[in-house]
Amino acid sequence: MGQSLWPIIGLKLGPQNLVILNDHEAVAEYANGETCGEYLSLPFHRLFDRRGGIYSSRPPSHIANDLIFQNSVHPLFLPYGDAWRQLRKALQDILRTTHVDDLLPLQDAEATQTLYDLLHTPDSWYDHIRRYSTAVILASVFGLRGASYDSPRVKRLYEVQNQNTAINELGATPPIDAFPFLKSLPGPLAPWRKWALDIRVQYRAMLFDLVKESKENSRKPGGPDCFLAKLHRDQEKSGLDDEHVAYLGGGLVMEAGSDTTASTLLSFLLAMASHPEVLAKCQQEADSICGPERSPSFKDMDKFTYLRCTMNETLRWRPVAAGGVPHMLTQDDTYKGYILPKGTILFANTWSIHRTADFDDPEAFKPGRWANSTFGTRDTSVDDEKRRPQYGFGAGRRICQGQRLAENSLMVNMAKLVWAFDIGVATGKTLDTSMETGYIGGFLVCPKEFPLALRPRSRERAESIDREMDEVRDFLGRFG
Ligand code: HEM
Repeated sequence: MGQSLWPIIGLKLGPQNLVILNDHEAVAEYANGETCGEYLSLPFHRLFDRRGGIYSSRPPSHIANDLIFQNSVHPLFLPYGDAWRQLRKALQDILRTTHVDDLLPLQDAEATQTLYDLLHTPDSWYDHIRRYSTAVILASVFGLRGASYDSPRVKRLYEVQNQNTAINELGATPPIDAFPFLKSLPGPLAPWRKWALDIRVQYRAMLFDLVKESKENSRKPGGPDCFLAKLHRDQEKSGLDDEHVAYLGGGLVMEAGSDTTASTLLSFLLAMASHPEVLAKCQQEADSICGPERSPSFKDMDKFTYLRCTMNETLRWRPVAAGGVPHMLTQDDTYKGYILPKGTILFANTWSIHRTADFDDPEAFKPGRWANSTFGTRDTSVDDEKRRPQYGFGAGRRICQGQRLAENSLMVNMAKLVWAFDIGVATGKTLDTSMETGYIGGFLVCPKEFPLALRPRSRERAESIDREMDEVRDFLGRFG
């Protein structure tokens, strides 16, 4: 997964045209001694952002759209068009910044529980982080609690999600979308069909159980409000039926919001354990803001400037959707003399764009690069209209709708973690930070378990964690 050498790579998979957008232009310009900042991200900007009207579809997915998520229910997989637009709009209403920031107390309380879990059962650190991200989405979407990684609700979610991830891995099924005749193969020759339909059954059963529990819980006195309840209240305006509302919620918990956030937090822990000098600076900042007696709260987040740089650097260093989420072109187009036929599938190669020569020492984990430049680039005069600070959340009309929610979660957790713990490596062990060997690959990448050592920084801090957990128990208990 080294730095790419070509600005655009074209491939052919049977009849299917594939294009991978990299950033060689920037590398070449820089090598010639000219400033390259303005060229960086141009393919993304020009195609995904500026020509969004024709670069915003998704490739056909028989497995996702015809088998598991029939009836146009899942926004991530839907082709560009009215069905997608309707779902996107309904989500936009609930994921607006003002609504999302109302969730900060919940994110804070769940992060408090994460510190408590890490303090008392540090060996299960990997699961505690994964519980956090699932619990926040479960509570915000369904108003339900994910109190432990082993709770039946969280376990069931992960089981179905793992199946769904497995069937969508490259090579797990034949290239049905490139060779549509495969769709008509009889059952014994097409085992993937039964596999997909089984996942559909499990997914629906889980989803409608969650909806039922959610309704029951929200009817209790003092029961929490949640996205699902809001989507139900807005049904007249959005025109969505019960099934679409349920799947919209399910999609947020399952495919969109949970693994992505957990993977970024795990990469953050890996970065902290392997870069003690960065950890020390983050700790200094946390101490200067909160002192030893209380952990950082969501109200402090604006003061954490170095930590915000560290969050941006984590998202740059180890982007979760490293190869990008595919966009499909819906009309013939040309770009820089290349003919791009309708139906071409384009991958914005996030890994590559985060590693061009625009970045000083791009392989290194250096939060300081974000201190002087909004984009983390060495050239601080990069034209901001032509690029985004982050490409980890995609680009154009399909850009991630949960970026604000995710960044809020990342900041609150990162602040609490560095305040509470010395984060290091277990005695006698070494860390593997390599994407090739230290990460689980696939559509979303995630660090494998590594020999992390978490030590509370003082007894005073450990006591504060216990006390703060007691303070949030009632609040968390409202979620059924
Ligand atoms: C660190 C955390 C996250 C990362 C790195 C991330 C990344 C992404 C990426 C790369 C895409 C595809 C964008 C494209 O096609 O150009 C995406 C789509 C999406 N994300 Fe996120 N995401 C994160 C968290 C979340 C959260 C917390 C939510 C909501 C609760 C969310 C909701 C969505 C939705 C609904 C889409 C589909 C957009 C569409 O196809 O129209 N994401 N995300």
